[in-house]
Amino acid sequence: MKFIRNMFTKPHAEYDFENIDITRIPEHVAIIMDGNGRWAKKRGLPRTAGHKAGVEALRDIIRTSSQLGIKYLSLYAFSTENWKRPEDEVNALMQLLVMYLRKEVQELHKNNVKINIIGDIDGLPKSAQEEIHSAFELTQNNQGLIVNIALNYGGRSEIIHAIKALARKVKNNELEIESIDEEIFSGFLYTAGIPDPDLLIRPSGELRVSNFLLWQIAYSEFWFSNIYWPDFSGKHLMKAIIDYQKRDRRYGGVK
Ligand code: FPP
Repeated sequence: MKFIRNMFTKPHAEYDFENIDITRIPEHVAIIMDGNGRWAKKRGLPRTAGHKAGVEALRDIIRTSSQLGIKYLSLYAFSTENWKRPEDEVNALMQLLVMYLRKEVQELHKNNVKINIIGDIDGLPKSAQEEIHSAFELTQNNQGLIVNIALNYGGRSEIIHAIKALARKVKNNELEIESIDEEIFSGFLYTAGIPDPDLLIRPSGELRVSNFLLWQIAYSEFWFSNIYWPDFSGKHLMKAIIDYQKRDRRYGGVK
């Protein structure tokens, strides 16, 4: 496989680049990063150690995604339901996010990555909001991989948020009820302008969607694996893509 981009480092030698069809790379890959807690428990470590290891895994996934020419990578980092976790863990996750953006943003920027946040940013701590805004500002004109980090994100709450915005438009006579269709509705979601995910990946052995991109995954291909997120690497991402390339996507039609 020839690399169209010269990103980060050289491609990893042990990765299965040969068996990937570079002309059929999914444009949008979404990942539910799961299993950090169980990864840590298995090693007798605190759950936060699992989240830290999860950040390391993220680095390889972003690099491999760039190298493969994936256009959009959506990552479920913190859900609207994750506030139910112990306060210590929530604080550690927020801190990790701030540290991650602070530490990595220059490197991501150098590699032409654009950072985009989906979710209710206003509900996040001030420090996180500030870091998010500066990462967004710095990278917004980049033309490479677009990384959507889902923070304080829930699929149902995103839909309600969109409905309220639509209802306001109708009330103000800016929109006709009859003109509302799927395309217009999509334009009110956090993912406005972004194509739906082609491939949704969930590691850690759980076989559910957990309120991630509910509207957008209507026709996504799902790929599950038992590997805990901190052990997930570009190698697994490539395996998922190779499997994806064998699937026959019919979108409800026939071929
Ligand atoms: C799920 O594992 C993971 C999370 C709730 C957080 C994911 C966050 C990261 C990988 C790091 C922070 C992200 C960024 C963008 C810096 P879990 O805790 O539910 O694991 P378990 O199911 O084994 O308990």
